[in-house]
Amino acid sequence: MITSTTKIYALIGDPVEHSVSPLMHNRCFKELKLNCVYVAFRVRKEFLKEAMLGIKYLGISGANITIPHKVEVMKYLDEIDEVAKAIGAVNTVVNKNGRLIGYNTDGIGAVRSLKEVVKDLRGKKVTLIGAGGAARAISFCLLKEGACLRIVNRTYEKAVELAELLSQTCAVRPEVYKLDENELGKALEDSEILINSTSVGMYPLADKSPVPQKLLRSDLIVFDIVYNPLKTKLLREAEEVGATTIEGYNMLVYQAVESFKLWTGIEPPVELMKQTVLEHLK
Ligand code: ATR
Repeated sequence: MITSTTKIYALIGDPVEHSVSPLMHNRCFKELKLNCVYVAFRVRKEFLKEAMLGIKYLGISGANITIPHKVEVMKYLDEIDEVAKAIGAVNTVVNKNGRLIGYNTDGIGAVRSLKEVVKDLRGKKVTLIGAGGAARAISFCLLKEGACLRIVNRTYEKAVELAELLSQTCAVRPEVYKLDENELGKALEDSEILINSTSVGMYPLADKSPVPQKLLRSDLIVFDIVYNPLKTKLLREAEEVGATTIEGYNMLVYQAVESFKLWTGIEPPVELMKQTVLEHLK
């Protein structure tokens, strides 16, 4: 029941029509009997400022920020959490008594997905493919967990730039490789974990994998952040060689779990969130 005291949470992006976030959050609000509702707003780039003023002055309790506004939104916030600042992007906003505070839960979402399989990431050797926005969030949080990182990217210079950026806030500088079979082979040689943060393997590139199957091993943990399709070519080939696999929808779930916690202070029912996402994606 929506009442005069219902708290409102918003998704701000363009497009937003296909987002599973409203389903995930509203099911959890209902399950936990919280008087809250989550709604999606399609906001064009030129109106982001007005939309954020709306959040603030209508007293909307919080928001998720998605493509294409994650970087631009930072201009319209009163405070930005240290992790989001380091990542350079915000995906969650909390309205704290009229002050908008920005956070980023993407990287911690990836870390929690990994932690379902590896309890402690300290000292773990991780090869991360990609150097874009997703890679930035994931790599920063992995370094915070104490992992040893190798960044592999098609455009070598972008991997160097990311390593440079990370070394400004983290004590250890990641190794950098170009995305070709030889270099990737070197990076993977003694790696325990492999993460794909590129869009290779996502529709319409679903018949592609960023890693030749011969480089995969049974002792690797392979995490693909692509969730569309649910089982990417990389994950299928990793399973074939007996590797442990983590599907991308986990990151989608855990970034939402962390946003929910920032807004309500409550850990939502993770299994319900997973079930909701899987129903939606299937
Ligand atoms: P996101 O925010 O989803 O990370 P992004 O910032 O555009 O998106 O980054 C996309 C990443 O996927 C980059 O690392 C990109 O590699 P380049 O830096 O060389 O562009 C990688 N990527 C995209 N398409 C790719 C392809 N066909 N092969 C290899 N890497 C690809």
